[in-house]
Amino acid sequence: MEKYIIKGGKKLSGEVVISGAKNAVVAILPAVILSDEPCVIENIPGISDVSITLQIMSEMGAKIRMINKTSVEIDPRGIMNVPIPYEKAKRMRATTYFLGTLLGRFHSAHVSMPGGCNLGDRPIDQHLKCFAALGTKCELDGGMIHLSADRLVGNQIFFDKNSVGATINGIMAAVKAEGLTIIENAAKEPHVVDLANCLNSMGADIIGAGTDVIKIRGVRSLHGTTYSVIPDQIEAGTFMAVAAATKSDIIIRNVIPKHLEPITNKLIKIGVQVEQFDDYVRVIGGENYVGTSIKTHPHPGFPTDMQPQISTVLTCASGTSMITESIFDNRFRYVDELRRMGANISVEGRVAVIEGVEKLKGAPVRATDLRAGAALIIAALGAEGTSEIYDIYHIERGYENMEIKLRDLGADIKKVDEPDIPETETKQAI
Ligand code: UD1
Repeated sequence: MEKYIIKGGKKLSGEVVISGAKNAVVAILPAVILSDEPCVIENIPGISDVSITLQIMSEMGAKIRMINKTSVEIDPRGIMNVPIPYEKAKRMRATTYFLGTLLGRFHSAHVSMPGGCNLGDRPIDQHLKCFAALGTKCELDGGMIHLSADRLVGNQIFFDKNSVGATINGIMAAVKAEGLTIIENAAKEPHVVDLANCLNSMGADIIGAGTDVIKIRGVRSLHGTTYSVIPDQIEAGTFMAVAAATKSDIIIRNVIPKHLEPITNKLIKIGVQVEQFDDYVRVIGGENYVGTSIKTHPHPGFPTDMQPQISTVLTCASGTSMITESIFDNRFRYVDELRRMGANISVEGRVAVIEGVEKLKGAPVRATDLRAGAALIIAALGAEGTSEIYDIYHIERGYENMEIKLRDLGADIKKVDEPDIPETETKQAI
């Protein structure tokens, strides 16, 4: 079992380069299935969600060639419409994107209900509503979602929930449907725009991505492209929170500062200094932070994927902070772990109230999901003493070389692989 050991309290300095966006690449790679020709996707991050996606596509018959560490050529011509079983789908939520892309190409898809981070109830009713509106029969049997359509015909769809996943799946299914599809109450996240830009570079006709209304005029075929994935807004935000918690001065390169604005604004309000440049930001942590209120919202609001990290910074801000999670109903599972480090946080439903303490203290803790894991790293770096972070596979799903990037900034972090304790020994110990 791999874990991170972090000795906290060190000031960091230097530069970190942000990788390609996880949430964009997990949509863009499956979107290549819709193309009639090979595509080159650049700026892909080295994270396990990417390896799983590429493995699934390779097992379907795609020819995958890594051009270098961050660029991949995918030839989708030999892909067969094979079902994606639970063993694969449970490993990441974005396997749902194979529903939209396989449906778009083959007019049928068979994919197990997805896994991913446990953030509470994560239904896919809006995805299915969209597929049905395009003329698809949707059935659930033995945990598998079966989609089939004689023809896909454009339609007008209003999402009852603002959903990133449903918007992306809707675009994928509609891109080669007959006629015009209009998606209303669409998600506006940067990764939705990135997917639309990538598909347009393959010959799709999508307008309005980044607004509430996306119009997709179906095209007969898509051609090859070379497309570079946008930088990861959440990885960048996480390093901004690292700088804040460790009171350090860090330059964060390869970012789109506009995407970071909701995070930047809150950090400034707390007392962190943020300087923005064309494609980098400089974050200078301060000595005294003040508590604030934060409510998560769909883009361009404060991203739920940054909620655990900013809450961690606020554990050591003076006064009371109130965090309201408005997207997911169970996104405070990391709070128990922060309490083990001395944080004073109470949770009532979707609201966490943080009373600032002077310092956190190192402790053994467990990453309960991807962003919770990032929050614990931030906590450990800012804390006094040594922390051990377990279940780091969650973190590696979405952060490329986290410990190397942190070490390059001067952090005292190492990854160790400790043999698992045999079950019999654990039982005796109990
Ligand atoms: C995506 C992101 C995830 C981020 C989340 C919110 C990816 C791979 N993951 O997840 O990192 O935290 O957006 O920004 O991009 N909902 C329904 N019915 C549906 C779909 C969603 O009720 O059919 C609800 C969800 O339960 C949630 C809300 O809508 O309460 C938003 O979920 P959604 O935007 O779909 O999140 P994901 O696409 O799963």
